[in-house]
Amino acid sequence: MVLETLKGRSLLTWLDYSKEEIRLLLDLAKKVKDQAKRGELHQRFLGKTIALIFEKRSTRTRCSFETAFGEEGGHPVFLSTGDIQLGGKESIEDTARVLGRMFSAIQFRGFEQSAVEILVKYSGVPVYNGLTDSFHPTQALADIMTLEENFGDSAGKTLCFVGDGRNNVARSLLVICAKLGVNFRIITPPELMPDENLVRSCASLAASNSASIYVGPDLAQVSGADALYTDVWVSMGEEALKETRKKLLMPYQVNQALMDRTGRKDAIFLHCLPAVRGEEVTPDVINGPQSRAWDEAENRKHTIKAIMLATLCGDAALGGSAVSPHNTSDG
Ligand code: CP
Ligand code: NVA
Repeated sequence: MVLETLKGRSLLTWLDYSKEEIRLLLDLAKKVKDQAKRGELHQRFLGKTIALIFEKRSTRTRCSFETAFGEEGGHPVFLSTGDIQLGGKESIEDTARVLGRMFSAIQFRGFEQSAVEILVKYSGVPVYNGLTDSFHPTQALADIMTLEENFGDSAGKTLCFVGDGRNNVARSLLVICAKLGVNFRIITPPELMPDENLVRSCASLAASNSASIYVGPDLAQVSGADALYTDVWVSMGEEALKETRKKLLMPYQVNQALMDRTGRKDAIFLHCLPAVRGEEVTPDVINGPQSRAWDEAENRKHTIKAIMLATLCGDAALGGSAVSPHNTSDG
């Protein structure tokens, strides 16, 4: 399979991608990271533009899209909903129609998954889901990349998400793990289980890839895990639930005792960030030697660049030689 097959595609959820397509993106992300480490400069987005729409706050996602696109010669335009007409005077359909005439691609972070679907339908350009209430697919690709940097091929490895099991990050991990054959455990109280339909379809996908899915409250499921993963107990937009969530999730805090229950000294800790130390994770774990949260954050940029390269450039993502600031006539 070649990257050309991904040209023109959007990324709303990993449900729309095959295992082979996800593997292509992971391979490309590794190449892109190697190029960055060698200091190679490329201009693969020269002449292209991307609209970055943010209804919710962001550090990593915004900075990844903006720097990955800009350093390759593209022109990113940051649009917060405080600045543009979207959601106020203008419908998402009309905004999509207009942006599709001016931009090569659109990134959207916000509340409703239906918003990214409408953007795809009416813009005619690739749309990337930079987080909705339902899914956070670009995060999950960086998470798998980080898992593979530590343990090699993720197929057959075991990842445990401990915390709010119905949130966007847990749901995206559920899908990508099922597709790639990663054993995935969501350890969460009954009140926060992800929707049954998604769990059922992912469990059957996982089984077809020789992997298993567990969703339930049993903390003993961390035993033997390669990685423990957590996320904030209160996602953006749910601030009113803070006290209820704290009571519900305190038993699911990732602390050193829980890391030790993996029975693996080499088990790693992952967190999408931002983190609330003292709630979903203790400071000693996130700052400690088993934490890979900072590699994971860096990998957001490499994976996001890979997604944009494949979907905007196809096979040309790999072609072309590096440019160098020293290759100038007076250099
Ligand atoms: N992990 C993540 O999406 O971070 P930001 O909210 O800072 O983009
Ligand atoms: N679940 C979190 C993820 C932040 C990156 C949220 O939606 O706020």
